Amino acid sequence: MSTNIKWHDHKVTHIQRVEKMQQQPCILWFTGLSGAGKSTLANAVELELYRRDRHTYLLDGDNVRHGLNKDLGFTDEDRIENIRRIGETSKLFVDAGVIVLSAFISPFRSDRDLVRSLVNKGQFIEVHVATSLSVCEQRDPKGLYKKARAGDIKNFTGIDSPYEAPEHPEVFVDAGKLTIEESIAKVIDYLESHSIIP
Ligand code: PPS
Repeated sequence: MSTNIKWHDHKVTHIQRVEKMQQQPCILWFTGLSGAGKSTLANAVELELYRRDRHTYLLDGDNVRHGLNKDLGFTDEDRIENIRRIGETSKLFVDAGVIVLSAFISPFRSDRDLVRSLVNKGQFIEVHVATSLSVCEQRDPKGLYKKARAGDIKNFTGIDSPYEAPEHPEVFVDAGKLTIEESIAKVIDYLESHSIIP
């Protein structure tokens, strides 16, 4: 914990930034197993929001680990720090008035709840991309499940590292069964019905 630091209030407030953006900022938090389709869905939802003239930004697992979190691996401790940093980053985007889409395995419930607690009520929208382990393993787009089963990758989510599914996600997407269009519609319907987008 740093000492001798003091919070600075800015001249332009959050309310003013939101008014300028003319939209309700929020965090769309996509969680699910590796290969569940989090990035695919988050990308497709972002494109739909872009077409509707919303201001968005997509934070994505593999990409963030190339930069901001390049020092982190996949131990429980590192995953906790990964989500903590991404949560704080997502909060900054919300403060700036942006709709941020964050797509991470985020396997621990307590970490996702921590991110929820960083923003105002209603601004954290948990989207469970609920593809079963067997479907993810069959897809195995990066060949990682095969390596994990062979013992070449340790601490792989769903194999030898836990995934705690959300108990009450705002949006539940059975991505193993729904088409991508149906999955996008579920997220967009939620945003419309909660007046986050017109
Ligand atoms: S976490 O658990 O939220 O910190 O993970 P995340 O930052 O989303 O990174 C997940 C992507 O990293 C690749 N990868 C692994 N995933 C799970 N377990 C292990 N051990 C692992 N090693 C590498 C994998 O490609 C994940 O990408 P997605 O898009 O989820 O398939």
